[in-house]
Formats: sequence, structure tokens, C-alpha cells
Amino acid sequence: MSYWSHEYLLRTWGGPMVQAEFLKEAQRAFFVPRLFSGLNLFLDKAGLLPDSVDLVAKECKNKKAFIVTDEYAVRFAPRVMSPYEKRHGIQFEIWDKAKPDAPIDTVKDCAAKMSAFGPDLIFAIGGGSSMDTAKGAWLLYEHPDANIAILSPLIPLNLRNKAKLVAVPTTSGTGSEVTGIAVISFPDGVKLGVGGALPEFVPDFALLDPTLTTGMPPQLTAGTGGDALAHAVDAFMAPRADELNQAIALKAIKMIFEWLPKAYHDGNDLMPRMKMQYAATMAGIPLSNAGSGISHALGHTIGGLYHIHHGAMVLLFLPYELQVYARVTDRHLEICDMLGIRDKSSAEESLANLIRKIRGLMTDLKLPISLKDAGVSRDDFEKNLDFTLDQTPTDPAFYFGWYDLNREQLKDLFLCAYDGNLLNMNSDVWR
Ligand SMILES: [Fe+2]
Repeated sequence: MSYWSHEYLLRTWGGPMVQAEFLKEAQRAFFVPRLFSGLNLFLDKAGLLPDSVDLVAKECKNKKAFIVTDEYAVRFAPRVMSPYEKRHGIQFEIWDKAKPDAPIDTVKDCAAKMSAFGPDLIFAIGGGSSMDTAKGAWLLYEHPDANIAILSPLIPLNLRNKAKLVAVPTTSGTGSEVTGIAVISFPDGVKLGVGGALPEFVPDFALLDPTLTTGMPPQLTAGTGGDALAHAVDAFMAPRADELNQAIALKAIKMIFEWLPKAYHDGNDLMPRMKMQYAATMAGIPLSNAGSGISHALGHTIGGLYHIHHGAMVLLFLPYELQVYARVTDRHLEICDMLGIRDKSSAEESLANLIRKIRGLMTDLKLPISLKDAGVSRDDFEKNLDFTLDQTPTDPAFYFGWYDLNREQLKDLFLCAYDGNLLNMNSDVWR
């Protein structure tokens, strides 16, 4: 099977071209949904002033809305639907078969049901997989002949002729409620990021109600929160990140360090849930507008190979990303300043402080520091090392860093990550 990301030119030239520092000043764009957050987003009775329900319902001219969700988050559907049914007479159909990693077969099944119903509004209720399934199905609803695997990221998707998208996240991490990307998986294990030349997959509305996230178990809170931290740091460090993106990313980093441990240790405390939901959405905004980082390329390969939670994996590689980037940029010192951990006399010590801070959070959340801790056996790791080294550079996120790692550097990085040792940046491999 062939995918757009396997096209050498698209992958190695298209991504860096968009990312290139010298193009940063040429044209800037910043895409976000219309965002509503709070505890009163789904009120059955209209208030004195128009609210989110009125604004969203205005987009539903034919009064038909379609819900994409999964077997867990479907429990929230009645609450979301209720004000739209009662106050605006909108008719709903629910499809609740979204699966982890948004397999293409489920995307196609969802699109078929969507096409039969003919909605002009799509609600995606759930975590990243539900939202990404909704995005993929929306594309096939608008363009039934589209081949998702080979859609070039350099041409527009041409959406919104039939419907608009409303994202209602029930986890705090993926950021899919604000990003212009859908990650769809294929039967051969490939997880493909899909998005057009313009970020048309950015939903029209994002509705953030923290009470929808209160049932998350601690390890899911930790994993998804770790993903959000990696998004914020990746985006802050991305060469293309301008001041607007950096400001949002920096605040998200601060909030995650403050609130993620509290959300993890007491899942029923609503304030940490609210702050983490907001921080994860904030982290997704610069991720979508400024770019990802190598933590995601490294984490995708290992996570896919050994079926380890995405957030846990990308966070595990974040310290390595910072070490790699610190060769050519000192931007991470701004993160140290903000966290109050900068050593004014030593950039090296400041970096060490930041890595210690990240690993301290990982330990607190019982997330693995090393691949060994994550349960990867040494035999499997060694057997798959060549494949790992081949596969990582095919991930588009690999090219969104400051420079490309060569095979020797990649190998050193993965070997260090197996035992949780940091890189020796003075060794020959890195000089
Ligand atoms: Fe992620």
C-alpha cells in the first residue's frame, strides 16, 4: 500500500519547506475554531443573551446533525444533544463505533452512515480517535471518491460544502479539537497524518466542558497530559513558532506542570480537570499552527511497534529532543525562565534542570523514563532496531525539527532511551 508520507519529495521537501525559518516572515496564518469553555455549554433553557448553542445551531440550516463517538463517550451524547433538540428542533443520528487510532475501515463505515443521513452539522464527541474518525468521515462525506492514503498535503481538501464540524473533547491531550490534522490508521499498521494545504480540518467550533473529562482513569490522565506537554514543548521549540504561538505554548507548559499532577492524583477535583482541558487545547493550537517536533517521530515508531500509549512515548523522548535541539538553539532557556529553573551562569545546567523537571513529572505520574521501564524487552528492541532506524525518518514529524539526525545519531539516541540514559553530546556521534 502506498501513502503520501512515503513519497520522498513530499516528505523530505514539502515539510521542511513549510517549516523553514526563512519562510516564517513571508506569510503567517493562524487557524483556531470558535472556542467555548465552561460548565454551562449545554443548557436546555435559553438565557437572556445568545450562547454557544444558538451560535452552533445557526450553522444547522436543515436541522440534521450527526454524532461521531465511541462506546465510552456515547454516554455524553444525550447531554450534548438535548439543548439543540429542545431549543432548535435539530434532529440527531448517533454513530458510536469509533475505535482507537481511527482505523480506515471504521472511518469509511462512519462516512457511509453520515452520507445516508445527510447532516449539515457533525459533532465529534470523545478523545482524539473519535475526533479524527469524524474528520476522516467528514472528508469522505464531502468527497466520496477521495483516497485518504494518498491525499497530498499540498492541495486543499475543499471541505464545508455539505457540513461543518463541532468538536467536543472528553479527554485532555490530543488537541484534535483545534488541530488541522486527522491521524488515520491502516491495516498494515501505518498511522497517517492527513491534512490539506490549508488546515481545513480545524473544527468550526470546539466546546470544552470539563465535566466530560472527570471519569478519566489516572493512567489515561497521565498519558494524555504527557501528550499535551510534548505538544506544547514541541510547538514552542519548532523553528516556525512565532511570538503568538510561543506565548500560547509557554503558558500551556506552565499550566500542565501545575495542574497535571493534581488532575492525576484526584480525578474528581473539577478545577484541575478544567485547567488541564484548557491547557491541552492551548497546546494543540501552536502544534497545529507552528508544527510538531522529533519527540513525536521517535514516539510514533516505538509506540506503534510495541503498542505503548502515544502520550507516554512522546513524553519519554522529550528530554532527548531538548538535548538534540540545544545544539543549535537556546530557545529552551525561555522555558527555564518561565519555570524559574534557569541557571544564569550555565546554559548546560539550565537544560539539565529542565530535563530533571520533566522526568520528575514523569516519575510522579508513574510514566516510564526508559523503554526498558515501558516493558520493551531487550531482545525485541535489538531485533527491531534496524526497522526502528529505517522507520523513524519516514515519519513527517521527523522533518519538523531543527535538523535531520543521521542514522548513527538516531541509533545512539534509541540505545540511550532503552536504558533511560541521557545523550552524551560531547561524544563523536554528536560533535
Ligand atoms: Fe501527540
